[in-house]
Amino acid sequence: MTVLHNVSLLPYNTFGIDVSTEQLVEVKPSGSGSPASRYAHAIEELYEGRMFDRPYLVLGAGSNIVFTKDYHGTVILMSKGGVNASPLGEEATLVSADAGMLLDDVIQWSIEHDLYGIENLSAIPGTVGASVVQNVGAYGVEAKDVVYCVDAYDLKQKEFVTLKAEECCFGYRDSIFKHNPGRYIVINVSYRLFHTFRPNLAYQAITSLPHSSAIELRNAIIDLRWNKLPRPEVYGSAGSFFKNPIVDDATYNALLDRYPDMPRYPGNKLSAGWLIDKCGWKGRSVGRVGVWPKQALVLYNLGGCTGAEVFELSNAIASDVKTKFDVALQCEAIFVD
Ligand code: EPU
Repeated sequence: MTVLHNVSLLPYNTFGIDVSTEQLVEVKPSGSGSPASRYAHAIEELYEGRMFDRPYLVLGAGSNIVFTKDYHGTVILMSKGGVNASPLGEEATLVSADAGMLLDDVIQWSIEHDLYGIENLSAIPGTVGASVVQNVGAYGVEAKDVVYCVDAYDLKQKEFVTLKAEECCFGYRDSIFKHNPGRYIVINVSYRLFHTFRPNLAYQAITSLPHSSAIELRNAIIDLRWNKLPRPEVYGSAGSFFKNPIVDDATYNALLDRYPDMPRYPGNKLSAGWLIDKCGWKGRSVGRVGVWPKQALVLYNLGGCTGAEVFELSNAIASDVKTKFDVALQCEAIFVD
């Protein structure tokens, strides 16, 4: 295992924040067999290098993270690894992918192998590991709908574990991994995908997308997504910066009385983008951080911004939403200091 010292994290976070980490190591699977056997050597090396004796951070594609200062510890990068398929009954196949793979690559691979059910998540940035930590979701599908099990190293019990989907306690952008920060290193995720393509067009924005094949639907979703979000090669961002807030009945009904056309989701979930937009933030910027003109839920880097600037803008937005709607916004992105 190679340990790098004083490394810039600029290439490792999609917001494009230029901080450094004291140490950086890459975890690579080796050999063949189960995920546990392929990652055993790498985990041993992390222990031998005393990587867990000081602060550490497991990083996927860095697409949901905002560094507010230099990291005084070790950043552990999960290397790309691979993907394979195994039969699961007559209608489905298990697609098992290593944590460091990009989720979008797994989606493309699955469609090429005539396996379906995950295409609505096309173009979500981030890795397979992050897909379960965050329970990522878009266009009516969440990772939890297709996750069969997750292989992880449990630093508390000091053993490899396989968690079934129901043991992962998935919720809206939530999971057991989020509730136990630092406890699990996700190494592999198995998705249950189907041999028959059944397009899921229930989400309002995609009801009329072309869907004669999974690849056609995937491409249409990719276009739709990139039409609304900043292109990563041009502007840094962390995708949706806030979660859509879930409120109590009284708040929900009071808001609906005031704003009958307000967009909303089942389960008293509101649209954070709409709330922020209504506060007049869309297209505005403070210093080197802006609110994306086509989707107010997205904060972006106008060039060379710091994590502190992102923090300041996100606080100003949350404070305005609280004042105008009495709704507390929570960040989906994670600040790391
Ligand atoms: N809206 C506004 N103004 C805005 C933004 C949105 O009025 O500036 C309105 C839209 O017109 C629409 C509603 O709010 O009526 C919802 O907007 P959208 O369909 O864009 O969905 P969202 O709730 O803002 C969520 C996810 C996205 C995901 C989309 C599509 C969260 C936090 N975000 O956004 O996820 O792609 O649905 O499924 O749940 C991500 O996680 O990075 C992400 C982009």
